[in-house]
Amino acid sequence: MNQYVIHGGHPLFGEVTVSGAKNAAVAIIPAALLVDGVCRIENVPQISDVTLFFSILEELGAHVRVLNRHAVEIDCRHIRSTKPSYELACRIRASYYLVGALLGRFGQATVAMPGGCNFGVRPIDLHVKGFRAMGAEVTEGGFINASVPGGRLKGASIYMDLVSVGATMNVMMAAVLADGYTTIDNAAKEPHIVDLANFLNSMGADIKGAGTDTIKIRGVDRLTGGTYSIIPDQIEAGTYMAAVAAAGGQVHIKNIIPKHMDCISSKLLEMGVEITEQDDSLLVRRSGPLTHTNVKTLPYPGFPTDMQPQITTALTLAEGTSIVTEGVWDNRYKYVAELKRLGARIQVDGRVAVVEGVGRLEGAPVQACDLRAGAALVIAGLAAQGTTTLGSVHYIERGYEDMVGKLRGIGADIEVVDVPEPEKKEAGVS
Ligand code: EPZ
Repeated sequence: MNQYVIHGGHPLFGEVTVSGAKNAAVAIIPAALLVDGVCRIENVPQISDVTLFFSILEELGAHVRVLNRHAVEIDCRHIRSTKPSYELACRIRASYYLVGALLGRFGQATVAMPGGCNFGVRPIDLHVKGFRAMGAEVTEGGFINASVPGGRLKGASIYMDLVSVGATMNVMMAAVLADGYTTIDNAAKEPHIVDLANFLNSMGADIKGAGTDTIKIRGVDRLTGGTYSIIPDQIEAGTYMAAVAAAGGQVHIKNIIPKHMDCISSKLLEMGVEITEQDDSLLVRRSGPLTHTNVKTLPYPGFPTDMQPQITTALTLAEGTSIVTEGVWDNRYKYVAELKRLGARIQVDGRVAVVEGVGRLEGAPVQACDLRAGAALVIAGLAAQGTTTLGSVHYIERGYEDMVGKLRGIGADIEVVDVPEPEKKEAGVS
């Protein structure tokens, strides 16, 4: 079982290149199931969630040809099943995208209810509402069973009760081959929503308005294939920016889309971080003290919830008291208990965390409890004096390509150590 060992307390210097966006890739790859042709997808991040999706598609009959570390060719012309195995599908939250893609192409899907991060209830009622509006019969239990009489969904007008990335992406996928027009109102506007729409359009779909509140889709008969390159990962870039904020130093963060970074940059600038924007990169520098500020996470273009653990970690080292409000998830502060083991002073009450800045953090053994919490604890270890060991790093490897290599490239003293699984103690006989 891998652990990260971090000797922290010194600033970061150098340059880091951002990979393809995880939350775009985990939608675009299952969306290849909609294509009756060959998809060439580039700038694919090398992360375990992507590798898992390749296995799921192959299991369904797709031909997946890895061209190099970041490019793949997927041929879904000979799909032979619409029921991915429970073992594979239940290991990933984004497996629900398989429903929209399979239902949209074949009129049928049976997919295990998703697993994924544990920070509060993660319902899929809006996904189901969208599929039903397009004529599907859907039952939920250990599996999501969806089918449409006659085999083809019908376009519909769908209003999202709340802004949902997953439901917006899933309904978009289901609608591209439906009979007629679909409108999604109160749609999510994240960069990865636009990326999925651009991918589908490059394969032959007809989607307009992605990135706005209203997305309009004209159903077509067939998607024929093409080539597409995934956008850079806004959250991975933000994670490295937060690492510089916490540990200090100067890092050139390359391969970003500046517009996507505005919501994160503006918050870090308030904290005293210096940011110089270039065409497709940011120069991030922190030399003086960090200043406290307040953060409220919101759907894009608000401050991203997937940056909440990372910015909270940086705020533990800011002068003064900051208030962080989690506006998307019910319970995304499980990592705070681990931060406190490093000396952070944070009080959590529901969706609000009050962060009292401390002068320094001290290294200690900690555990990751989800993907972004793990990234936040790495940031804390880089800033802390002394040694931090981090367990359960498989969470990090789901969504960050080669984090250890990229951090070592900017001077971090971090290494991966393989520790034996703890012995399973036999129940004692009293
Ligand atoms: C996506 O999750 C991301 N995951 C999450 O990133 C991210 O935190 C989230 O969007 C918000 O940006 C992937 O893209 C794989 P939602 P998703 O549907 O789609 C409620 C990471 O760290 N809701 O936008 O599951 C839900 O409970 C991960 O990369 C319903 O009530 O999020 C939440 O409160 C973690 N009913 C809110 O909407 C539904 O049917 C937003 O959820 C769907 C969602």
